[in-house]
Amino acid sequence: MTSGPPTAADRTLNADVRWDDFDPHQYIGHNYLVMQAVDEEIITLVRDHFSDHFEGGDRVPRGIDVGAGPNLYPAFTMLPWCESITLLERSAQNRGYLLGQRDWYDAHWDPFWKVLCGRKGYADVDNPRERFKRVVQDPIAGSVFELGAAEPGWDVGTMFFVAESITTSLEEFQNAVRSFMHALKPGAPFATAFMEHSQGYRVGDIEFPARDIDKEDVRTALGDLVEPGVDIQRLNTSDLVRDGYTGMILARGRRKE
Ligand SMILES: C[S@@+](CC[C@H](N)C(=O)[O-])C[C@H]1O[C@@H](n2cnc3c(N)ncnc32)[C@H](O)[C@@H]1O
Repeated sequence: MTSGPPTAADRTLNADVRWDDFDPHQYIGHNYLVMQAVDEEIITLVRDHFSDHFEGGDRVPRGIDVGAGPNLYPAFTMLPWCESITLLERSAQNRGYLLGQRDWYDAHWDPFWKVLCGRKGYADVDNPRERFKRVVQDPIAGSVFELGAAEPGWDVGTMFFVAESITTSLEEFQNAVRSFMHALKPGAPFATAFMEHSQGYRVGDIEFPARDIDKEDVRTALGDLVEPGVDIQRLNTSDLVRDGYTGMILARGRRKE
């Protein structure tokens, strides 16, 4: 861990960080208690991507949200389309939070679900809390880097604000993106979001590292693991949302066959 925001001279690798000290309630208070315009934009774009892919077809067996943290909306985006959803998370406190939300998630998550209901597949879910409880599995303790060595096993995946927000190393950022892609079956749709030019972030009293990346770094990391039509965009509403980064980037696409 660094004692202040990472500088060019700092190098904080993923294994250097006390992830178990990540405070989910501080993080939610800062990010998700009230829905920001940029989250609405992300949810809308991911909703349309998954709806376009899945509408009219059968449910797929397995979805995964990697580095779920205390954020439920990535799992929401997969809820109508999967029989089960895996939440992979390195921090014990965040896993505890996720487990505590499973039976009845807090009311401040309702506006996030409501945005999804702009498309039929989501609007058709009668009782999202009941479905969340049934579909979302106990969070799994693990690391994105372990996915790179496993068999590709998931039919749809999300990874939001993880690869660039868990290290200052370009190599680890690239490994995280590639490991996530490796976990997906050929043709599986995915969505992954990134902070642009992040200098690190504070949760409560603790500074967490980030790799300063842009759209081209995302494109390079995805490389030849994705189908050529991949859409990588800087979000319109992400300008100057907060200090410490310059915007947000969303990549939507499919794992290469
Ligand atoms: C900036 S938070 C993002 C959380 C959430 N996905 C969101 O959208 O707000 C980064 C998350 O990555 C988790 N994390 C850190 N190292 C990880 C690793 N090696 N594998 C998986 N998750 C990790 C952290 O515990 C934290 O929950």
